[in-house]
Amino acid sequence: MNATLERWSTRRAFILAVTGAAVGLGNIWRFPYITGENGGAAFLVLYVAFVLLLGLPVMMAEILVGRAGRRSPMQSLGYLAGQAGASRHWRLLGLFGAFTVFCILSFYSVVSGWSIEFFVTAVNGGFSGLGAAEVAAGFEGFLADPRRMTFNHTLFLFMTMTVVAAGVAKGLERLNNLLMPLLYLLLILLAGYATTTDGFGPALTWLFRPNFSAITPVVVMHAMGHAFFTLAVGACALMAYGAYMPERQSLPRAAGAVAVLDVSVALLAGIAIFSVVFSQGMDPGEGPGLMFVTLPIAFAELPWGALWLSVFFLLLLLATWTSSINLAEPMVATLQGMGLGRGKAAAVIGIAVWLVGLLSVLSFSALAEWRPLFGMNAFDLVTTIPTEIFLPVGGLLIAVFAAWVMPRQVAQAAMGVGEPGFRLWQAVVRWVSIPLAALVLAAGLL
Ligand code: TRP
Repeated sequence: MNATLERWSTRRAFILAVTGAAVGLGNIWRFPYITGENGGAAFLVLYVAFVLLLGLPVMMAEILVGRAGRRSPMQSLGYLAGQAGASRHWRLLGLFGAFTVFCILSFYSVVSGWSIEFFVTAVNGGFSGLGAAEVAAGFEGFLADPRRMTFNHTLFLFMTMTVVAAGVAKGLERLNNLLMPLLYLLLILLAGYATTTDGFGPALTWLFRPNFSAITPVVVMHAMGHAFFTLAVGACALMAYGAYMPERQSLPRAAGAVAVLDVSVALLAGIAIFSVVFSQGMDPGEGPGLMFVTLPIAFAELPWGALWLSVFFLLLLLATWTSSINLAEPMVATLQGMGLGRGKAAAVIGIAVWLVGLLSVLSFSALAEWRPLFGMNAFDLVTTIPTEIFLPVGGLLIAVFAAWVMPRQVAQAAMGVGEPGFRLWQAVVRWVSIPLAALVLAAGLL
């Protein structure tokens, strides 16, 4: 099977596919609200540091394993472990990754559904002339309506699983090529417009002038988790894409390009969103609704605001679509590796994710006060634990596997760089990334 595995047709297509996975709700929805909840600039500094020291090196490790194995994550891990004379149980890491993305996709689909709702409302001009309070009230009303939320969740998941069933490379390349640059442009426009508003100065201060006393162990945990989440690292999802990577391509260069794009999208979104927050005297720590209540207001002030807003939510939806397809891939690849057909695998996973997603839907109405663990309701749990614990644990193990278990020649060949470059990466992963992740996890959990 691996000999005939599909390949991304060009290097650019590979970079765009990984960017498509990386850029999504994490940048435009999660980054601003979590930065807002964790003290602004101090959080941003930590997050960028984690991207550089941890996310990026581990991203290379993860793609490298997939590229060297050319199989589904579980099979690649098992095969490479066997080759290295290590325990075959490394395969279980693939299963753990599949479980992680399962949890993540269950809420990801629900929040993407919010974007569908907002897109439709924007197209119908439903935000025209609304002030901040009215937009916020409309959003609250929507959250309290499980039927509308379920409809959108269902639609989004169906869109995702259909593409996944058709096969990743085929379904995605064209879409990615076209849409990522457009979204980027629109964000530049929006951030450019933000420079003319009253909130721009305070937004810059909030984002870029750190108050280090805001840093606590929990904030450090949040920043680390977010670095993994936004880069799509730690759940073997990029490993699955690495299996399709073209033969001749430098992995560090590809990964570096993705990280730059990913972080810059988050910064642009942050500038746009916090400018609104401060122009309108809103609370930066507003929570998961932050993007949804600020952007309609920002666009409303632009000429043809309703049109731009519709385009924005459409592009956001497409960005979350490519991310959710990536989230689904390791699960489908795992079931496929167990002998299930691709279409069946996609259907089974779609149904299971849909059911668990209902818990997130109901967390805003019937189950809002149902707090099974740590005083958190279902939505808080799935948006926190998988991202902040499972991804770092998975990333840590992937890094150990790539930098300590795999034979050097195999790993270096899959990295696609010369010896000095490889040694540098290996040293960073061994002596910086792995100890850092272990330390933060230990400090956060103990
Ligand atoms: N990075 C995506 C975002 O920021 C989410 C995502 C896609 C993801 N694939 C992933 C997160 C794999 C963790 C693992 O929206």
